[in-house]
Amino acid sequence: MLKGKRIRIRPIEEDDIDLLYQWTTDEEVNYWSSGAWPLNSLQTKDQLAEKYLDSQPDSYRYAILNEKDSLIGTIGFKEINVPSRSATLFVVLGDKTCWNQGYGTDALITFARFLFTQWNFHRISLDTWDENLRAIRAYEKVGFKVEGRQREARFVLGNYHDAILMGLLRHEFLSLHGKL
Ligand SMILES: CC(C)(COP(=O)(O)OP(=O)(O)OC[C@H]1O[C@@H](n2cnc3c(N)ncnc32)[C@H](O)[C@@H]1OP(=O)(O)O)[C@@H](O)C(=O)NCCC(=O)NCCS
Repeated sequence: MLKGKRIRIRPIEEDDIDLLYQWTTDEEVNYWSSGAWPLNSLQTKDQLAEKYLDSQPDSYRYAILNEKDSLIGTIGFKEINVPSRSATLFVVLGDKTCWNQGYGTDALITFARFLFTQWNFHRISLDTWDENLRAIRAYEKVGFKVEGRQREARFVLGNYHDAILMGLLRHEFLSLHGKL
């Protein structure tokens, strides 16, 4: 269990699957997280459980809990590059009532510290799309910097949008937030 200021992060459990499935079929959550609505919703609950519970070779997912120990989202990393000690991070607060209250930033800082100090990563990447200003702002508060823009790389509800590529180095994170 990882402890942030207000959130906790733990492995995903079987009892989480019903709620995770509800979020997968939520239009607004999907709109912001990937622009992939309704594509994401075309998964069965079994397929989702397999994705979240079975160990996957290059992807690690965890549950984010609030102060009341309720599940509010997921966070994880993928695309691990061992020699360069880098990975790509992803986060979604599926509980919309928790947006804009600092939970996402708290989870990101807590998880980034875990990746830099326990997994010994040197660099973390992530990406989003140009209209997701809340995500960009949260990432910037953690210390991520915009490193690039892929023109019209995302197709969201009939329109092409730029993908925003961001990155954070270990020493930048530690100088902003410290080890503990
Ligand atoms: C993105 C996400 C993880 C951020 O977590 P959060 O808890 O909502 O964010 P926080 O409250 O920690 O920080 C949000 C910041 O964005 C700001 N913000 C919100 N809407 C904004 C907007 N339209 N324009 C600019 N800034 C905005 C907030 O004011 C806050 O900044 P501040 O603390 O300086 O005031 C969460 O909202 C989420 O999961 N959203 C849906 C899925 C998603 O977008 N996932 C990311 C995919 S790349």
